[in-house]
Order: sequence, then C-alpha cells, then structure tokens
Amino acid sequence: MTYQRWTLRTANTSYTVRLSPDGPWAELDAWGPLGVEDGPSALDWSRRTHFITPADAAPAEYLPYGLRPFTGSELVVRGPGEDRGVWWEFDGAEESDGGLRLAFTDEVTGLRTVLCYQTVPGTDVILRWTEFTATAELRLERLDSAAVNIPVTGAARLTYLAGQWSQEFQRTQVDLPRGTFTIGSLQSVPGHAYAPWLAVQDAQDVQSAYGVALEWPGNWHITAEAEPGGTVRVRAGRVPHEGAVHLAPGETLTTPRLACAFSPDGLDGLSRVWHRYERRLSGDRLHRPRKVLYNSWEATGFDVEAAGQLELAKVAADIGAELFVVDDGWFTGRADDTGGLGDWYPDPEAFPQGFDRFVADVRALGLDFGLWVEPEAVSPGSRLYAEHPEWVYRIDGRPARLVRNQLLLDLGRTDVQDFVIGTLDRLLGAHGIGYLKWDMNRPPTERGRPGAGPADLVDLDAEHVAGYLRVLDHLRAAHPDVTVEGCAGGGGRIEHATLARTDVVWPSDNTAPLDRLRIQHGFLHAHAPHVMSSWVTDAPGIFDPRPRSLAFRFVNAMCGVLGIGADLRAWTPEQRAEAARWIARYKEVRDVVHHGEARLLGTPDDPTCGVQYDAGDRTVVAALSTGRLDGAPLLPGRPARLRLRGLDPAARYRDTATGTSYGGAHLLHHGLPFAWSAEHDADLVVLRRL
Ligand code: DGJ
Repeated sequence: MTYQRWTLRTANTSYTVRLSPDGPWAELDAWGPLGVEDGPSALDWSRRTHFITPADAAPAEYLPYGLRPFTGSELVVRGPGEDRGVWWEFDGAEESDGGLRLAFTDEVTGLRTVLCYQTVPGTDVILRWTEFTATAELRLERLDSAAVNIPVTGAARLTYLAGQWSQEFQRTQVDLPRGTFTIGSLQSVPGHAYAPWLAVQDAQDVQSAYGVALEWPGNWHITAEAEPGGTVRVRAGRVPHEGAVHLAPGETLTTPRLACAFSPDGLDGLSRVWHRYERRLSGDRLHRPRKVLYNSWEATGFDVEAAGQLELAKVAADIGAELFVVDDGWFTGRADDTGGLGDWYPDPEAFPQGFDRFVADVRALGLDFGLWVEPEAVSPGSRLYAEHPEWVYRIDGRPARLVRNQLLLDLGRTDVQDFVIGTLDRLLGAHGIGYLKWDMNRPPTERGRPGAGPADLVDLDAEHVAGYLRVLDHLRAAHPDVTVEGCAGGGGRIEHATLARTDVVWPSDNTAPLDRLRIQHGFLHAHAPHVMSSWVTDAPGIFDPRPRSLAFRFVNAMCGVLGIGADLRAWTPEQRAEAARWIARYKEVRDVVHHGEARLLGTPDDPTCGVQYDAGDRTVVAALSTGRLDGAPLLPGRPARLRLRGLDPAARYRDTATGTSYGGAHLLHHGLPFAWSAEHDADLVVLRRL
C-alpha cells in the first residue's frame, strides 16, 4: 500500500509521519536513526479490531475524542450546550525547511487543528505543537501538545525525575507492561515532584532511548499508556486551571511545544541530545563565561548587613570568586520570612552608608555584584499589598491561605507585569547589578481573579506563564548584560521556556554532598552542565550529615557552574588555600565542562561514579567516591576504576597533572584508577589527547 508520507530529518535521526490508511488522521510510520523509514513500518498492525475502533489501535500522532473514543485522546472539545467530540477530515499538508504542518478540519464544530513539526538544526530534537482555530465558540477541555508512539517488545521502561523540595531530580525507573503512568503538576510551576521530562525505552533492549520534554512553566502532565499491541503512547500538554480553555471565534490558540528526542546510545546518549539542545537554547549567551559565584544565603540567612557581607566578599575575592550575590534579606521589612516581599528597596539599617556604597565596595574587590528577588511574591504586611490587595490571586469569600507566610501576585495581569518590570528596571538601572536571581517560593492556592468574569472564560495558568515569560524576555532585551538565575525554592521551575530565557538555574536547595550528587546525576540526564548552578557549602550540611571532604564538595560543584555558599569567615587558612586551588583549576577547565560532550559514568549507587567531559583534545573527569565499601581499600588493595567512554581506542591520553599516559583502549576497558581513602574521596583528572 502507498501512503502519503513525510519525513523530517535531524542530524542523526528520521521521523516519518503518514496519513493513515484507516481514517483521517496522521500516524507514526518510523522514528529512529537516519534511514529507519526505509522499510515497512514497524508500527503497522493487522487492522483487526474487536470492541475498539481502528483509531483506538492506530499509532496516531494526535486524535480528538470523538474519532478516538476509548484509548486516550489528545483533544477534548465541546461547543456551548453541545456534546463532546470532534470528527475531522484531513485538510492538507505544508512542508518547509525542516518543518511540517498537517491540518484537520471539523465542519460541525468549525475547529481547524494543525499539527506542527519543526526540526532543530544541529540537534536530534523535533519540536511538536498544535494550533487550534475556531469559527464558533468552543471549550477545549483537553489540549495536549502532541502524542508520540514508541514500539516496544514487552514492557516499556520509563525513566523520570521525581522528588520533592530538597530532593529534586531523583532518577526513577518503572517498567510498564500495561496500564497508564502519569506525572505532572497543578502548582502552576513544573514543581519539585516531577520534571516535565520522560525517557522511554524497550525494557528488553535498552540500547536506544526516546525522550520528551514539555516547554511549559505552568500546570502540565505527561502520560504514558502501554498498549496491548506492543507500543507505548505518550501524551503531553498543559492542564488548564479552569478545567477548560475557551476559544473564541477567529482566535488561534497554540499549545506549548513538546521537544521529542531519540538516541541510539541509551539514556546516556539521550542526555547528550538534551545537552546539545539546551546549549542551543542558550543562544549566543552560551559563550558568556559563567562566573564563579559566592552567595551568602547559607552563611547569613536573613541577617544581611553590609559589614558582614563585605567580610564574606573579601574572603570570596581572595579565594578566586568572581561574583558576589546577596540573597534574600536585603530589603526593608525582611527580618525573616514573614515580611517585606513586594517592597523592593534596600534596607537602610542594613546598609548604613547606602546600598550603592556597599555595591561599590563589593565591586572594588574585583567582584561582580548580584541580587536576589522574588518578583511574584507579596507579604501580607507589605506596603504593596496595602496599596494593591487586588493584585494577588484570591477568591471572594474564601480565606487567603499563606504559604511560607506569603501570597502570590497574579502575574497574568498586565498592571502586575508592568509593576514587576518597573521594579526590576529600577533596581538594575539604579545599582551596579550584573546578576539577578529570580526566586519563587509559593504556588497559588485560592486561585481566582475577582471581577474577571465567568471563570471558564479566563485562562489563569496560561496568563501567569505569559506574564512570567514577558518579564524574562524584557530582562534579556533591556538588560542584556545581566546574568539571570532561575530558581523556585530550588528546582521547582526548570523547563525549556525558562532555560531559553535564563543563564543558569538552581536545581535544589539541598547542597549536602551525597544528596547533591544524586540530584545532579538526575538533573544531568535532562539538562546541560552549563545551566547547573552548584555550590560548595559547609559540612555537615543541613540536609544530609554524611561527611565528605572539601575536595568532594568542590569536584561535585565543578560538574556544573561552580559557586560557594559556605560561611567563609569560619574557614581556616588551609581550607581557604585549598578552595583557591580548586577554583583556579575550575577556571582552567570550565569551558570543557560547559561546552563539551558530557557522559555520566556510573551512578551514585556505585562506590565510584563521575562525569566525563570531552572538548577538542581535552577530557575532564570528575570522579567521586560515594563512600560505599566495595572491598577496594581492603586487601589486596587495588584502586577503584572508572571506565571512560567515547574515547579513541587507538589514541594516547596524558594526565596533565601527573604526566601518566594511557592508551584510549586502556581507559575504555580498565578505566582510570583512583586509590580512595577517608581523606581522598574525589578527584578531577584532566587528560590531553596526544
Ligand atoms: C529559596 C531558594 O531556593 C534559596 O536558594 C534561597 O534563595 C531562599 N529561597 C531565600 O528565601
């Protein structure tokens, strides 16, 4: 049979869609390495159905409820007073450079749905989204971005990043032979519980890996359904807060983009596909060196005052930090977390000689200066709240609950966006600020906008997202030299829309060494090293008292963008000298760490694990001993080994510190040796290819 087919090609992959022989829908023909489309589709099926319809069995790219009644649809639509359902016809295809648009129209509802595809040059990512245009009023109760189909022989192996505050990005796996698996958030941010990211493999053959990531900093879901005929079908999209999105006649609504990735090299290869994609998201800001930061939050908490901060800044500068960031606590009314948010003026008591003088003193030490803000937050006792109680989310007649003693501004309102933009312009324009940390510490609870009309006509979640992105876009355009850090009580708002508009993100408030190792291991499956902010803090940490050396904490933090968060005033001269040595080494290798190809070596469950970075003729290996006993330190006392990957077996590599040289085959087969002890639990090896 010949079908109408379209193939999208990325650097190393093909994605072929065809018009189904069974009905008016698009379905997947092939997805995998380049050329995978050359042969009968592996997703083809017998066309025998009993008790379901062909649409229910098809590897459909996108189907509405109506056409696909039983096995999960991406779109649920209802006209006012009408029954649910869409029955559409194919309405033409448009192909462009790396792009494809497939249109479907339903005459009864008047809905035109366009499935959109776009390859991303230089990556193995295909972006997918959907556009809806109405001729009559409609309610979209489900409006997923896309569905992807993955053939499996038995169960699907799903890898996802789960957790909670202070335990984000825990790499978690489940095998799904049948049934439905869902992750998501209703917190109007991606949340700490799950990253909007999923990897799918055939549990019997994990050689290849498929992945999706949703670009949406609001409510979302990703659902995987293991179907009887040997496929898993993943649907993903936003979740409207009001239960449905209203579409007015003539209006076009665009869903968030779902990035779809494939690697023939398993989860490790898939992570490199995502890293490359995120390097592209950073655009020309990728090559702006990420400065070594000092942040005083863990050292001084809310107890911010100029003299103490300068004392910290002085030591930070001495050991080689390049940037000093004052976190929460610098503004009026902020003695603790019960007040101050919304009134963004430096506290004159904390800076008796003036804030500008303080900033100048920090800068005189050779440090850039950064400041923390939480622009969406408001304290009930603030002047802002007294002046604009209508700016917070609330439902008339219902109590306004506090989370972390604060309320949330309705950033979907243009006047609130303008206030936030005005505040940030004032701060960035008035003071010498080169770095801004944007935090967010409470999800909306009583989420309403009094006076906005019937609840089903507003789309609060999407409006908040649009407001957030508008402010971030403004920051980039109006203050291009300011580096922006994204944070939401740690890693609560990390996804591609945020990553495209910030320079670094804060994966977790938990900086305790072994916990952090696990958080970063999960994080690096989905996200690139150049966005991963990581601090060296004091031991024992507040979350995890298991001891690790200062070297371990440095090597761990050097796996991304190095920062220091310890109380340096209490550090001994020896500790400061050691820190200075690590910072100097980091500066030598950070271009490899941030721009090279990263490979995760082992896992934090292993006695030794690490990360390998390759760029040009250099290979940097961060090696960490998790302290688990594997017998290596006992008789006969052979060192632990970390096998490297991706090297040329025929080439030779020299350790730039010790001069030891190794054949590539040796490093691939036996690995680098590490003779760990209680004091020596981490190392950074730099190899140069000869
Ligand atoms: C939560 C952030 O994740 C921390 O790094 C710190 O900025 C605090 N908020 C400050 O309140």
